[in-house]
Amino acid sequence: MNRSIPDILFERLQAAAATAFGPDVALDRAWLRSTNDPKFGDYQFNGALPLAKQLGAKPRELADKLKDALALDDLCAPPEVAGPGFLNLRLSTDFLNRYLQEVPPADPASEYDRLGVAPATQPDKVVVDMSSPNLAKEMHVGHLRSTVIGESVARILEFAGHDVERVNHVGDWGTQFGMLLAHLRATQPQALGDLDHLAISDLEGFYREAKQHFDSDAAFADEARRTVVQLQGGDPETLRIWRAFCAESLRHCHAVYAALDITRLVDRGESFYNAQLADVVDELSQKGLVEKSEGADCVFVEGFKTREGEPLPFLVRKSDGGFLYATTDLAAARFRIRDCGATRVIYVVGLPQKQHFEMLFAVLRKAGWAHEGVQLEHLGFGSMLDASGAPFKTRAGGTVKLKNLLDEAVDRARIVVEAGNDDPESVRGQLSAADRAHIAETVGIAAVKYFDLSHNLSTDYRFDWDHMLALDGNTAPYMLYAYARIRSIARKAGVDFASLPADAPITLEHESEIALAKAVARFPEIVASLVRDLRPSLLTEYLFELSRSFSRFYDRKLGVRVIDAEPESLRISRLRLCDLTARVIHTGLQLLGIPTIEKM
Ligand code: ARG
Repeated sequence: MNRSIPDILFERLQAAAATAFGPDVALDRAWLRSTNDPKFGDYQFNGALPLAKQLGAKPRELADKLKDALALDDLCAPPEVAGPGFLNLRLSTDFLNRYLQEVPPADPASEYDRLGVAPATQPDKVVVDMSSPNLAKEMHVGHLRSTVIGESVARILEFAGHDVERVNHVGDWGTQFGMLLAHLRATQPQALGDLDHLAISDLEGFYREAKQHFDSDAAFADEARRTVVQLQGGDPETLRIWRAFCAESLRHCHAVYAALDITRLVDRGESFYNAQLADVVDELSQKGLVEKSEGADCVFVEGFKTREGEPLPFLVRKSDGGFLYATTDLAAARFRIRDCGATRVIYVVGLPQKQHFEMLFAVLRKAGWAHEGVQLEHLGFGSMLDASGAPFKTRAGGTVKLKNLLDEAVDRARIVVEAGNDDPESVRGQLSAADRAHIAETVGIAAVKYFDLSHNLSTDYRFDWDHMLALDGNTAPYMLYAYARIRSIARKAGVDFASLPADAPITLEHESEIALAKAVARFPEIVASLVRDLRPSLLTEYLFELSRSFSRFYDRKLGVRVIDAEPESLRISRLRLCDLTARVIHTGLQLLGIPTIEKM
């Protein structure tokens, strides 16, 4: 497949425009789109309208001229001019045969089945700042989105050939640690002697107790404040306890990451930058960017105002000399760009921090820490709400631990998976208990991830168990089942997809078969849009459409015979199309962070 079909078409359109209108006329890539309605062909070029203004001619005439200059015989049926001047392009079966024929087999040594998509020629060094919970507490449902979206974005960019580092910018510093460490000292003195084995099974409960202790006992509150001073002053004993506490908290986080199949997250918390904070403020001062405001050091950036219309300060040092979240973010960005060579930094953080990142980026540019060649992005996302649209809480009104949510997902998936299934093709009944447990785990976690990723990033969404676990609709169970079903075709046909002859021709005949081939052939185009827009919902929509095309293709009435197709060359061609579909679904799900199951 290699290049995406719209890339190939666009190149031809550009050549035709040069012939028809002269070499200075530039076409905009956005003028070429895939259509949603086969009536208008597969791709539509609507550039005649904007060009008409530019060239002072009638759009329809321009479209006709362009059509005459186009050399597309090897790709499309003769183009049609429609409406006010749209150019409708319909891919030819011959071209599709060849395009799919060119997809190389998967390279077993590579992590991703590239399906012929070439990696970026100029790879970026990308930092994906993701997950990043505060270690004082347990991870809660609020951390799900950043973790799941961050992983998918990281995989998409990795697939595209970029060099990606996933960074967990955990909150491991701050005054709340004084309280927690003092509470640990007061309540578990025995643990201090054996910090390597420090275990706090209920971190959330521990935080609550410490807070209560702090609020109800003035002497303890004083002790907690003293502990903060010791911690900030670098007292070795306090640091030792702090380190053990953070390590224990991170163990809790990594249990969640393991359940979510997230393995490459580098823990580099806020404390990592402590020694660089004073220097960050000094450098800003030297550059003349720091102003005093009520005793605090801050940077003002044009365009940011308080509610009262006053210039909004970006605070980098409090009047007591303490540094802030923002100072740490400046240090972290400087470190990532200057010391690690990042050319693109993506922050996967909820939308409430939108303004923080806008100001951060502006200050980084002003300070020259993020030069022109560096891309900074805040990939903000909406909140997860409960089924009624209220903030997601436990019945008692507390925050829901992410671990508990994932456990529940697996429990619920087990019920769905074990439920009697009328589908005669289901093989679930014949599977071992261990296989069925594995299916429940995979489906449960996949359901939560897929549901999250299938929503628009920037809007809030309602968490709905029944919806995400439904076996039909745009859900993980549906997609996983669709994949397993295709894989079962190979078993029924007595072939191994991987050893079908790669040089056997693909011959598309039936309408349902051509439609499926077109869906498969869109994969490189979808990857390109994903890399550009970082919107995983684009991928879930595509995979769902692809599976639906497959269902029609494989349907007894609407589709074609596959396993018993004749002659043999047609059977092989169709089996190869099945294999390609399965490979695209597998890779697509992989880019969402979801592993597939062979039998379900
Ligand atoms: N720990 C922060 C929070 O829980 C999120 C950190 C996001 N990353 C960053 N570089 N600021 O809100």
